[in-house]
Amino acid sequence: MIKRIWPVLACAILIGACKTPQAQKIADTGFTSQVDSVLALMTLEEKIGQMTLYTTDWGSTGPTIREGYQDDIRKGNCGALFNSHTTAFTRQLQEIAVKESRLGIPLIFGYDVIHGYKTIFPIPLGESCSWDLAAMEQSASIAAAEAAAAGLHWTFAPMVDIGRDPRWGRVLEGAGEDTYLGSLIAAARVKGFQGDNFNRADKVVACVKHYAAYGAPIGGRDYNTVDMSMRVFRDTYLPPYKAGIDAGAITVMTSFNELDGIPSTGNKWLLDDVLRKEMGFNGFIVTDYTSINEMINHGYASDEAHAGELSANAGVDMDMQGGVYQNYLKKSIQAGRVSEKLIDDAVRRILRVKFELGLFKDPFKYCDEKREKEVVMSASNMEAARDIARKSIVLLKNDKNVLPLTKGKSIALVGPLAADRVNLIGAWSGAGEGDKCISVLDALQQRATRDGFTLTHAKGCEIEGTGHIGFPEALRISRAADVIIAVVGENKEMSGEASSRASISLPGVQEEFIKELIGTGKPVIVVLMNGRPLTIPWIAENATAIVEAWWLGTQAGPAIGDVLFGDYNPSAKLTMSFPRVVGQIPVYYNQKNTGRPYDPNTKWNSRYQDVVNAPQYPFGYGLSYTTFMYDSIRLLKKEFSFQDTIQVSVSIKNTGAMAGEEIVQLYVRDLVGSVTRPVKELKGFEKIKLGKGESKNVIFKLTAKDLAFHTADMTFKAEPGVFWIMVGPDSDRLQKQVIRLVE
Ligand code: NOJ
Repeated sequence: MIKRIWPVLACAILIGACKTPQAQKIADTGFTSQVDSVLALMTLEEKIGQMTLYTTDWGSTGPTIREGYQDDIRKGNCGALFNSHTTAFTRQLQEIAVKESRLGIPLIFGYDVIHGYKTIFPIPLGESCSWDLAAMEQSASIAAAEAAAAGLHWTFAPMVDIGRDPRWGRVLEGAGEDTYLGSLIAAARVKGFQGDNFNRADKVVACVKHYAAYGAPIGGRDYNTVDMSMRVFRDTYLPPYKAGIDAGAITVMTSFNELDGIPSTGNKWLLDDVLRKEMGFNGFIVTDYTSINEMINHGYASDEAHAGELSANAGVDMDMQGGVYQNYLKKSIQAGRVSEKLIDDAVRRILRVKFELGLFKDPFKYCDEKREKEVVMSASNMEAARDIARKSIVLLKNDKNVLPLTKGKSIALVGPLAADRVNLIGAWSGAGEGDKCISVLDALQQRATRDGFTLTHAKGCEIEGTGHIGFPEALRISRAADVIIAVVGENKEMSGEASSRASISLPGVQEEFIKELIGTGKPVIVVLMNGRPLTIPWIAENATAIVEAWWLGTQAGPAIGDVLFGDYNPSAKLTMSFPRVVGQIPVYYNQKNTGRPYDPNTKWNSRYQDVVNAPQYPFGYGLSYTTFMYDSIRLLKKEFSFQDTIQVSVSIKNTGAMAGEEIVQLYVRDLVGSVTRPVKELKGFEKIKLGKGESKNVIFKLTAKDLAFHTADMTFKAEPGVFWIMVGPDSDRLQKQVIRLVE
């Protein structure tokens, strides 16, 4: 008895074997006949099974766990799984699918490989501060290679949601507040995960998420309502999803939130009109965790059957964990409320990805135990993780050049995160193991002899809680030292999904602890580990130095050591503004001017009575151990037309005592528009390396296309008029030139 489809497929595969798929996009590849030949064998239940994704019981990334998922595989009720990994486990599950289900269609295994599989890289927000697209592509590429070596085919990344509110815990997964930079990073990460062809054994399928505008929940409270103008949506929030799709991402995840009253998971306009028709996306759409079911809570669906119909008709191909498609879709089809053609198209899109991955040829292609052992946490991956980690560290303050540390010092290393390993991997750290991380204490102990310093250590206090019991010992060793390094911050559960905070200051008694350390009169270097911008006004004022180290991953300790001792000159710049107080939020750099622009000296303007408008640290800000001098910016023209390319050039000199890197930033302002425009918008940057005393001329090229936006009638175009062209080391310190765009 032929129970499975392999003999049928063998012929189909042979037909397709002559065509080597090169492009990532489904429409550009073959497999149509193979897909149809499989589809022809399937019952309606089996088709719905392919549209169903369940979590295993290996990990929980949401509020529900499903029992009996192995039986679902056997019965053909589930075509994809997540939260299962390692070659051993995925092989076991794949065997059930191909040997025990009626048709033997292979499973696709997804997982949240967000910033590494086992070798953990810095959290994406941290990495984004490197502004180093090649480095971010590389980290995604290594994450993909490790994941693919451990049986995985599909990552639920990159998250490309623009985040302007640091109360929202998920800003850690994104690339910050800026659309231009965020779009470039979205593309780099997709390329890293998928490469030129995700069919390669060291690549995985990328999933651009969370579509759409999930990063703008009201009040920064996760899962909350999103409400914004269509213009803000199109100009600010939509472009990074498009950039990810244009870079080849073949899957998209819907978001939990509603947008203008319609939950994304049931939003036909969003999924069908914008994503598929406008943006040309032709891969498959998966929901977020039980987000079909949640449309009942939203007040958009009356029951699960209704929710399933709304999402199927909106264009959702795969139900993550909700079980709604499995439980209700057949009846909805039989009742004529969902067409079978729509189901067939969804299944086609899913099967094509399985064909593209090569799973029909070899369902165990990603189950190579030898490769898993060689690739996962290899020495070269560790080296790359260290390098990317140090590129992500932002130097926020460095009074009297206390850093880099010089030889012969005695150092007191204190703070709840100084010896910590488990928190270094941060949230969404895949299969990462905290105890495999190298702590700051581990790293400094290893360096002590080589770098000629003595080291004492005491914790001082916990991350949370009110206890002061550790203060005396930490203060005692601090008084006896030349310099104090205090490693403080959040624990990894404080940022991430469902981790919004109304207060984003240092938790517990950590700030009080730092006040006491500063009271010793010794220089205090504060090293911050956190998943979001924090409010630290007192520390910003009083600490000697501040090093923003995020959660840097497996190699956090060595990377921080490299920066503290000057083996690496910090070069990162913030991609999210740091507010002074929560009341300033949102405090992103590219705001509007208003009719009454800020003036601290008069009353009747757009300001707070109790705090300045400027953030503590602006977007684009970060120091180096050297200094850079910007010459005046030069524009060759005073006017340019829609066909012209303008050149903006500026010469930068390293005027300090050591080599360093600078991220030179270009912003524009459109002074008068058919709708008002932001006071500045990033439109270019270049990261340059300069030796001591060296100068370099940086040239930016701009065309009218770079100045386009959604105008009063919602057409996307540039408008003639006067523009400021601004260049500088961050979004605040800019020099400008004026230019006119003429028809
Ligand atoms: C919910 C999260 O919002 C999403 O980002 C993630 O990929 C899924 N859970 C799966 O873990």
